Order: sequence, then C-alpha cells, then structure tokens
Amino acid sequence: MKRIVVTGGSGKLGRAVLNELAEHGYDVVNLDRMPPRGQSPASFIRIDLTDYGQTVEALTSIDDRYNGVDAVVHLAAIPAPGITTNSATFANNVPSTYNIFAAARAAGITNVVWASSETVLGLPFETPPPYIPVDEEYTVRPESTYSLGKAVEEEMARHFTRWDPTAKLIGLRFSNVMEVEDYEKFPGFENDPTSRSWNLWGYIDARDGAQAVRLALESSITGFEAFIIAAEDTVMSTPSAELAARYFPDVPLRASVDGVGALHGVETMLSIDKAKRMLGYAPQHSWRVLG
Ligand SMILES: NC(=O)c1ccc[n+]([C@@H]2O[C@H](COP(=O)([O-])OP(=O)(O)OC[C@H]3O[C@@H](n4cnc5c(N)ncnc54)[C@H](O)[C@@H]3O)[C@@H](O)[C@H]2O)c1
Repeated sequence: MKRIVVTGGSGKLGRAVLNELAEHGYDVVNLDRMPPRGQSPASFIRIDLTDYGQTVEALTSIDDRYNGVDAVVHLAAIPAPGITTNSATFANNVPSTYNIFAAARAAGITNVVWASSETVLGLPFETPPPYIPVDEEYTVRPESTYSLGKAVEEEMARHFTRWDPTAKLIGLRFSNVMEVEDYEKFPGFENDPTSRSWNLWGYIDARDGAQAVRLALESSITGFEAFIIAAEDTVMSTPSAELAARYFPDVPLRASVDGVGALHGVETMLSIDKAKRMLGYAPQHSWRVLG
C-alpha cells in the first residue's frame, strides 16, 4: 500500500482528501499544526511546515510511525486573503511550500500535488479576464498577496521540475471549496449576482476537489502542470452566457475545446477542459442536488 502524506489534512479540503485516498486503499498520514476534528481515516502528526527540519523529517521517517513516503499532497496554508495580515499570509504559505518542494527533492519523492488557487486567474476580476471561460492559457495575474504567494509557488514548481525533469509537481487551482452544509446559502446568490462575480460564479465541491487530487497523484505526467479545478456548473440559476453578457460585456466568449461553442446553460466559466482531458477529472457533485 502506498504511503501518502497530506499536509493540511485537518482543514476543509484536507478532510475530503484524506477520505478519498483512504477509500482508494492508500495509507494516509495527515501533517498539520492542528489536530483533526472528530474521526479521521489518517494518522496525525503535528508539524509546523515553515520549519524545514521538521518538513524533511516528516517526508522521510518518524519514529514509531513510518519510514518512507511515496507521494505528497500539500494543502496546508492560510487559505484566503484577509484572514491575517498580508505579510503573515505570505510568510506562512510560501516558505511552507518551498520546504515541501525542497524536502521532497531531498527525500527523492517525485510525486507532489499541491493546492494552487483560482485567484491566480485574476480574481476578483475588477480587471476583467481576457476571455470567458477562463483557462490555464494566459499568464497568471495575482491581485492579492495571498494570490501572489500561489503564483510564486507555481513559478518555484516550474524550476524544481526543470532541475529534475523526472519529478511531477501538479498545481491544482481550486475554485471556492464547498461542503454540503454550505449549499443552503446558494439559492440566495440569485438575488445579488454581483456577490459572486469575483470568481465568475464558480465553486468546487470538496469531494470533487479530492477526486482531482487523487487523479493528479495517479497520473503519469512529469514536470509542472497547473489545472483549474471547479464544478461543472455555477452557483447561479441564470444562464452563464447571460451573466457574462450582463456583468462582463466587453469580454469575448471563447468556444470550448470541443468546438461546440461557449457556455451551455449554467456551465462553469472556469474551464475544466484541461483537467478533464489530461487527468480524467469528472466531477460528480452539484449544489443543485444538494451534493
Ligand atoms: N477554501 C477555498 O475556497 C480554497 C480555494 C482555492 C485554493 N485553496 C487552497 O486549498 C488549500 C486548503 O484550503 P482549506 O480551505 O482546506 O483551508 P483550511 O484552513 O480549512 O485548512 C488548511 C490547514 O492547513 C493547516 N496549516 C496552515 N499553515 C500550516 C503550517 N505552517 N504548518 C502546518 N499546518 C498548517 C491549518 O492548520 C489547516 O488545518 C490551501 O492551500 C488553500 O490556499 C482553498
């Protein structure tokens, strides 16, 4: 059984990832500075990932717990702008990710998947995106210090994989992560569409985010790749083409890769075509059926 360490496994996305990996037969270890709430399918190691020594140890061996790690999922971070100060967000997130990339390299672990963010696409889109649906094809446009950190992490991944072309570093640009209990507030978004225009009305069910993590771990890709990970639909009932035309009137709509034309019904405006094509990503959950 393969051993996978998941950083941030006590958090919102981490909980779903621990379940997904355990259900698929992996031996899962949760590295976090906070213990998990309630039952967890993973063993827990308390760690501060801003400390390189602790990070190297956790990716190699811990007395009485394990010896050797096959792959790393790195989710631990302060997960949004505005939770703490800008510099504290950067000083926690970017060194933690450097430590994970460098410790994985030192330990000979070539399979690393980590949480980037939809924010690198230019959220909150006060400057409109170049086209809709947005995809991975244009240069990152961080607009907050949190997002700048994620952009720096993607750039670090580019160079770590240049140094070792056999390594895989996959950055998943998650949309806004939701659990089933979050869905009760969704119908209310219809009353004020501008309350969710900041991310083109996107979201991701935590369980589908976890599916994307597992598929990225299992993929045979090498090098650095970034993927947008969102639900198939938006948080709205108004059709996507109508929202785009009303709130982003000067932004061109692009045909999707299948050439069928852009934006059918309530289709996501955060393109997941690349993840579908290269990872086999197939989201299973929508707020419309309450998960
Ligand atoms: N929640 C979202 O909407 C969203 C959207 C896009 C990307 N992301 C990214 O996904 C990841 C997970 O987000 P989440 O919503 O589950 O966050 P969360 O806050 O629920 O969980 C993050 C976990 O990381 C741990 N952590 C933070 N810094 C640490 C450190 N230095 N050492 C050890 N543990 C540390 C925390 O204790 C927490 O348990 C983050 O990288 C976040 O930036 C989240």
